[in-house]
Amino acid sequence: MSDEFLDANPAIRRLWQFDRPAITEHFLRLDPAIRRMRFGGGVSPAFVADYAEQIVQIGSIIHGAFPDGVLRAVGELRGLLGEWPMTAEAAFSVEQHWQDRGIGNALVARVVAAAQNRSVKTLYMFCLPENKRMQHLAMKHDAILAYHSGEVEAKLDPPWPTALSIAEEVAGEFYGLAHAVLRWPDRGTEPET
Ligand SMILES: CC(C)(COP(=O)(O)OP(=O)(O)OC[C@H]1O[C@@H](n2cnc3c(N)ncnc32)[C@H](O)[C@@H]1OP(=O)(O)O)[C@@H](O)C(=O)NCCC(=O)NCCS
Repeated sequence: MSDEFLDANPAIRRLWQFDRPAITEHFLRLDPAIRRMRFGGGVSPAFVADYAEQIVQIGSIIHGAFPDGVLRAVGELRGLLGEWPMTAEAAFSVEQHWQDRGIGNALVARVVAAAQNRSVKTLYMFCLPENKRMQHLAMKHDAILAYHSGEVEAKLDPPWPTALSIAEEVAGEFYGLAHAVLRWPDRGTEPET
């Protein structure tokens, strides 16, 4: 199995309550600069641990990427209990040694598809002005960027759900679960943790 194939197909699946310890460990592995980008400012390990405890809840859909069998990246979709027309917010984190390998892009695609299939009308992503990587990814998924002082708002209007978009979500989840159960052997070229 080539690096290229695995990079293009990171094992992504939904995360549930039983994944909370892995989510906490993932957030605690983020270095301070990445945590700042993820949470929009400097946050303590205690804050991050508390956040991880409550991230899996009604009204949120969390996806995780397991490129080496360990949870290395998280995509959060929250606000799904809002009034019609529904707006929701997404946020992402990829551990430093796993960045720039397409995992963030794959997670954004899964989170946008999940929003589409729940009839979200407007999806927001917020990032710091210096976070060019996230802005690039948002634009790649057709978001419109608005620059405010201290924050960039990326706004995306997912299309209406279709039978195909729902089938793709189910198939993607099946692939992620199958990958988790029948995990490919670790590669010799894994990034260091
Ligand atoms: C933003 C983040 C989620 C992206 O994840 P990732 O796995 O590195 O993303 P990908 O590898 O899929 O894609 C990165 C893209 O950014 C581009 N990029 C990298 N550095 C860049 C820069 N300085 N300026 C513009 N684009 C840049 C890459 O070329 C790539 O685009 P391409 O596929 O079109 O070539 C990840 O870097 C991260 O966790 N950052 C810290 C937390 C954060 O910023 N979260 C977002 C706010 S909620």
